Amino acid sequence: MAGTLEWISATALEYRITLMLALAVTVMVYFMTRKRYKLPPGPRGLPLLGNILAIQNKSLFRMLIQLEKKYGPVITLNLGPIRCVFLNNVEVVQEAFVGKSVDFAGRPHTFSGLAFTEGGKDIALTDYGPTWQLHRKLALRALKYYMKGEGFQDTIVEVIEAVTVEMGTETGSFDVYSYINLAIFNIISKICFNEKFSSDNEEFLSICKGFDVFSTEAGNGFLEDVIPPLRLYPTAKFRKFMKIQNGFFDFIYKRINAHRETFRADTQRDFTDAMLIAQKEAEEEEDPELLAQFTNTHLGQTISDVFGAGLDTSRQTLYWTLLYLAAYPEVQAKLHAEVDRVLGERRVPMLSERHKLPYTEAVLYESMRKGAVAPLGLPHSTTCDTTVAGYEIPKGTIVLANIFAIHHDPRHWKEPEVFNPERFLDDSGRFAPTSESWMPFSVGKRACMAEALAKPELHVVLASFMRCFEIRLPDGVTPDLEPEGGSINFVPKPYQVVVKNRFA
Ligand code: HEM
Repeated sequence: MAGTLEWISATALEYRITLMLALAVTVMVYFMTRKRYKLPPGPRGLPLLGNILAIQNKSLFRMLIQLEKKYGPVITLNLGPIRCVFLNNVEVVQEAFVGKSVDFAGRPHTFSGLAFTEGGKDIALTDYGPTWQLHRKLALRALKYYMKGEGFQDTIVEVIEAVTVEMGTETGSFDVYSYINLAIFNIISKICFNEKFSSDNEEFLSICKGFDVFSTEAGNGFLEDVIPPLRLYPTAKFRKFMKIQNGFFDFIYKRINAHRETFRADTQRDFTDAMLIAQKEAEEEEDPELLAQFTNTHLGQTISDVFGAGLDTSRQTLYWTLLYLAAYPEVQAKLHAEVDRVLGERRVPMLSERHKLPYTEAVLYESMRKGAVAPLGLPHSTTCDTTVAGYEIPKGTIVLANIFAIHHDPRHWKEPEVFNPERFLDDSGRFAPTSESWMPFSVGKRACMAEALAKPELHVVLASFMRCFEIRLPDGVTPDLEPEGGSINFVPKPYQVVVKNRFA
């Protein structure tokens, strides 16, 4: 018996030594044969954790401006095992996202991204490839079709008139956010589902609340993405976000199902119908490859993306804009003068009158410069080994544009901290932006799909709100222009205003 035990422990010892030798050889071979890259510089991180503690810093986008002084405009930070490269000025973003657009057009495969998009079947978080191309193209075509007709103008007039009348009954100080939510939610809901909601509708309130949690609590992302064992036992934060996401999908799929029941191929009521028509066309082609890219999940995900991206970014942009206007009464006075002159007794301008309201446009641009709601955009991923600013970037590296830094770059903006819409006007007061260093919608292949929809929409909503209301902060309150959120979002802290109804 003793002999057997000795034999077993001797064998176990040999086994362990062999295993360790094999491991050592593998590691040696890996280090000797792996390609060496001239990577962008960055602060040395901790073993295993890399710079992960640095991203706990609330304003990563601000911290990167400090790091740029030492390392230059292209900086590497390692988040645990994940390498991220940050592009901190317009020149390097243009070189990468525009000049080498396909190289930088991927999206990282993150655990959270896959979970939130039912396995990567949406537009915004899906990797570069034919499925992404197909859905982005179809969605763009449907949005353009909608914007070309009378529907877009009618939707905006109908929604804004109702919201401004309701808001006009407010007395005392209140948070204007609920009215902004109602306006933007109803515009995107009319576009997607031809449906409008009242201010006390439970679905409307619950979706907005869910998006508020995303805006303010997403912080710097999910630990599950960088610490794989957590995927088996997800954090409370991740579970909370999944629950919100599932509630949002229920809202979307309920409407898609209702559309299927009343669908008629010869009438396109809204964006959902456009997607159903495209799906039917794919079915008629009987091409299994095409059909595999057109499942009901892909369809639901595309509509969720348009609804979600259309709602959150636009409402937060408008919330910033009204805060800036309350904080800078002299800017508001000029805006009032312009809308009064152009609109007269009307409450809502025509989309075609945008060029007659250049100061309004300049206010919007300046609000999007100072209050860019996605300060680091969305993460890109390199689709091949590539370069930027002379550095080598391996395939699969996560790359982010620091839009906040680009919008505050003193080489491109005089006094970048100052809120000054005039910087977007020429000497005769015409709208004439001159700097390339303005990119709230990002640039290149993955740039926002709906810049051409968001800008006129926000312009009309802002002009109408200002035609109807004078907004100021309650007596004795100093404006707080610092954001809340983390590095993913840049949103105003809740604030109260006192409003004078200019039609009363
Ligand atoms: C003020 C309004 C908006 C801002 C500031 C904004 C900003 C952005 C940014 C920064 C990105 C990421 C770009 C990148 O990865 O480089 C993005 C992507 C996207 N946006 Fe917007 N957006 C706005 C409105 C909208 C609206 C109204 C819609 C839909 C109707 C929309 C749909 C999308 C989609 C689908 C993507 C993903 C594009 C892709 O990955 O190919 N956005 N947006």
